Amino acid sequence: MNILILGSGGREHTFAWKIAQSPLCTNLFVAPGNSGTYKIATNVNISVTDFNAIKKLALEKQIDMVVVGPEDPLVLGIHDFFLNDEALKHIAVIGPQMKAAQLEGSKEFAKEFLIRHHIPTAAYKSFTKETVEEGYVFLETLNPPYVLKADGLAAGKGVVILKDLNDAKAELKSMLVDAKFGKASTKVVIEEFLDGIELSCFVLTDGKNYKILPTAKDYKRIGEGDTGLNTGGMGAVSPVPFATDEFLDKIEEQIVKPTINGFKKDNLPYVGFVFIGLIKVGDDPKVIEYNVRMGDPETEVVLPRLKNDFVEILLAMANGTLDKINIDIDERAATTIMLVSGGYPEAYEKGKEITGMDTVKDSIVFHAGANLKDGKVVTSGGRVMAITSYGKTYGEAIKKTYQNIEKLHFDKMYYRKDIGFDL
Ligand code: AMP
Ligand code: GLY
Repeated sequence: MNILILGSGGREHTFAWKIAQSPLCTNLFVAPGNSGTYKIATNVNISVTDFNAIKKLALEKQIDMVVVGPEDPLVLGIHDFFLNDEALKHIAVIGPQMKAAQLEGSKEFAKEFLIRHHIPTAAYKSFTKETVEEGYVFLETLNPPYVLKADGLAAGKGVVILKDLNDAKAELKSMLVDAKFGKASTKVVIEEFLDGIELSCFVLTDGKNYKILPTAKDYKRIGEGDTGLNTGGMGAVSPVPFATDEFLDKIEEQIVKPTINGFKKDNLPYVGFVFIGLIKVGDDPKVIEYNVRMGDPETEVVLPRLKNDFVEILLAMANGTLDKINIDIDERAATTIMLVSGGYPEAYEKGKEITGMDTVKDSIVFHAGANLKDGKVVTSGGRVMAITSYGKTYGEAIKKTYQNIEKLHFDKMYYRKDIGFDL
């Protein structure tokens, strides 16, 4: 099979690493890819949202399957684009159709889905510019902190949590009236604050059957001790120690089953990954959000623990035969630590040479914001590389990663030294 992966981050390098191991994969392409995928696949420099260029590539390279990494092309309807094109419709696309991708593309759509299917989540109301005054009144009825979410995609920045009522009102005005997040904040969801510990649950579905992958926890804040600005994720661990069997059963019964049944009932065509952002409140799981893709850097710990042939699973998803697959998980723990450019998640410099990759032992180096320039691997983004290790315990895995990080270098390299500190 010829397979095309869309995306350029650590998640996509991990997909490529896993897919390249499959005897079912003949030729592997990544668009646009990075310096990590360059070594194991053919990178093609086209944007993940340039559907016409993707079509041309798919036909030229006789692609049989497209695996979509990030949410943007899904929300823009890449799967529908393939289905509606006579020349492309035989190609399997891993990722939900546009209608279902709204679960990530619109917070209000996701909340309505959750409530309709009685899936535990925070209470909420949504507001527009026209109802901003009602929004102020609703805020007054809530206890702090206040959670405000831009309805649309806002590059991970659309959620604002504030302690002060007046700040919350000012933020609501800024989002709705002053269009702080552009079109993404035409609507704002205000929700009840949930106090608990977060984890991510990853589900594979063919639209009717599902399989649950190992849980993971990512570390979102830039600073040690979970302080400072939110990032895409600074590290991750799998499994999540507080996710006991009893708790996992609750997740499956109360959240996963009604979610997959909800897709069927609402006629949401879904072949792909469901990333359920959860929070454990007391002993119970509640949904914080849906994403219609895998997480990054969670993928860098989840896929290394998957023993199956990944392409076999992807084919079963595309063919509606996921019930025939037995998921086989490595008992070992996996941890990953993200090396980032100094300054990230705010302004940072690019083009810094990365050295030491060849000396890494017993860890896997997943490239993220890294690319080739004049034959050298240089930084090209905020999150540069994820270093994954296995261990009998988290401690063992994390130690290996830190030992290897010592050997890696680029100017202004930063990483958190406390990943897994809370476990
Ligand atoms: P989201 O983009 O929806 O994942 O939100 C980003 C982050 O905001 C989450 O990972 C949580 O840490 C936090 N968050 C979102 N919604 C709530 C909520 N209702 N209560 C507490 N924290 C929340
Ligand atoms: N690490 C969180 C995400 O991928 O959205």
